Amino acid sequence: MQEQIKNAKTLEELQSLYTATFGKNGTMTARLKDMKNLAPDARAELNRENTELRELFKLRQSDLENAALMSGLAKQRLDASLNPLPENRGTLHPLTQVLSNVSEILESFGYEMWTGPEIEDDWHNFTALNTPEYHPARDMQDTFFLENGNVMRTQTSAIQIRSMDAHGAPIKMFGIGATYRKEMDATHTPMFHQIEGLYIDKNITMSDLISDVREFLKRFFEMDDVKLRIRPSYFPFTEPSIEIDMMWRDNKWLEIMGAGMVHPNVLRNCNINPDEYQGFAFGFGWDRLAMLKYGLNDLRQFYDGDVRWLQKTGF
Ligand code: DAH
Repeated sequence: MQEQIKNAKTLEELQSLYTATFGKNGTMTARLKDMKNLAPDARAELNRENTELRELFKLRQSDLENAALMSGLAKQRLDASLNPLPENRGTLHPLTQVLSNVSEILESFGYEMWTGPEIEDDWHNFTALNTPEYHPARDMQDTFFLENGNVMRTQTSAIQIRSMDAHGAPIKMFGIGATYRKEMDATHTPMFHQIEGLYIDKNITMSDLISDVREFLKRFFEMDDVKLRIRPSYFPFTEPSIEIDMMWRDNKWLEIMGAGMVHPNVLRNCNINPDEYQGFAFGFGWDRLAMLKYGLNDLRQFYDGDVRWLQKTGF
């Protein structure tokens, strides 16, 4: 019997041996029932045998269970081809994406990126830009004034002044940053962003301006060609001043940016001799460009911080 137990190959086989021994009609069960007729020595022997058999069954059971576990594990293998759980990755904000796109293009044209303070003094935001006190053009922008006479920067044009002050001519730069005006509707928010280009050197002309703008718009909107319309306009810091429209996909003209040849007074204010150097500047709404690129109609959504909107629009 002991040998049979030790050699049982499966748990089922062991189970039937156990039933045959200790079950209702089992051999050991019968012998135990008959124990009272045995001599004390034989009784003790039977008890010993009983205990030994039970131990043997237990041992063999645990061996067989272990073996079953090990062979199960050996058959299982890691399936590295399974898809991982879906990842919930963040993305860059659309404005950040537009900025990196714009700066990549402008830098490839040789423009260098500049920033400046958002709280500006009157000189950099207005006066140096040929907009002295009481100049009617100050009314073109609804300015936030601070108590000490400073302003929340109304235009990134202030960065032009700082860059020319610091660097002199020749210079090829673009300024980026937040700008502030008292206005709020679907296409205006009190804080918005502008990007501004400036190129000052010897013999720079209006056609250099238009070719850079055209090349920039082609690359930014990924179009083979762009149709531009140049309209005369007025900005105090450029002379002549223009506004540039672009033919949009639905054959409508869209106003894209203001631009012009930098006014000699602005160059003089930055200690650059306008008889030696001249150049152009252009400025546009960074947010507006992002709205056009992604086909959005409400500027305020950029600033809501609503993750569902960001996910839905799939930037
Ligand atoms: N600063 C102008 C604005 O906020 C935009 C602009 C127009 C910038 C013409 C320029 C420029 O540099 O040449 O409306």
